[in-house]
Amino acid sequence: MASIAVDGPAGAGKSTIAKRVAEKLGFIYVDTGAMYRAMALYFLRNGIPGDDEAEIGRACQDITVSLAYEDGEQQVLLNGENVNAYIRTEEVSMMTSDTSKYPEVRKKLLSLQRELAETKDVIMDGRDIGTCVLPDADLKIFLTASSAERARRRYREQVERGISCELEQIEKDIIARDEQDMNREISPLKQAEDAVLVEASDMTIEEVVERFVTLYRDRTKK
Ligand code: DC
Repeated sequence: MASIAVDGPAGAGKSTIAKRVAEKLGFIYVDTGAMYRAMALYFLRNGIPGDDEAEIGRACQDITVSLAYEDGEQQVLLNGENVNAYIRTEEVSMMTSDTSKYPEVRKKLLSLQRELAETKDVIMDGRDIGTCVLPDADLKIFLTASSAERARRRYREQVERGISCELEQIEKDIIARDEQDMNREISPLKQAEDAVLVEASDMTIEEVVERFVTLYRDRTKK
């Protein structure tokens, strides 16, 4: 099966771009961050503190995460409940960054992610797709942009979703999350050696989409 791995820091536009590239190439888009977010939502709902690794490890046994697609949109199911509407708050974002560093949490999602890529053509985004989940991906891209630009985009996204927020706080949260994601022991956010770096601060969405598609076609001659 064909696969494209997209990694990069929070708010770089990975999901927007990957979704469009998936449409153009006829691939399935897999948002792995949503899976980590669903697990974080479970911990929050059950009052499990983000720093209680033992309790989080135990709780992992009670969690099943799965994906479904509605009109081409990924839906993440937490123990069978569609939780898409609840996983994009800043509280869940921070809890996700806090808890995705634990091996039990990562182990749980790794096999599901690999299974998806074995059965379908995928463009998968996250933090460790090129370095860990799909080391043999046909194309690996590390997508980044300045923290100010990423904060502006995340702000617009949240406002569109009707979530009230402050730009300055979003930039602070993004920087804190990147720090934590880059400096954790297991599967830190890092550019794979064979990944192509795309710095998108001054590029439009369409330009980035075209860049991805061209890179993929050049790579695979398709
Ligand atoms: O892409 P996102 O903002 O939805 O990701 C939320 C958090 O999940 C992010 O702070 C780090 C974590 N994550 C991860 O550790 N590994 C992935 N493959 C995807 C996300």
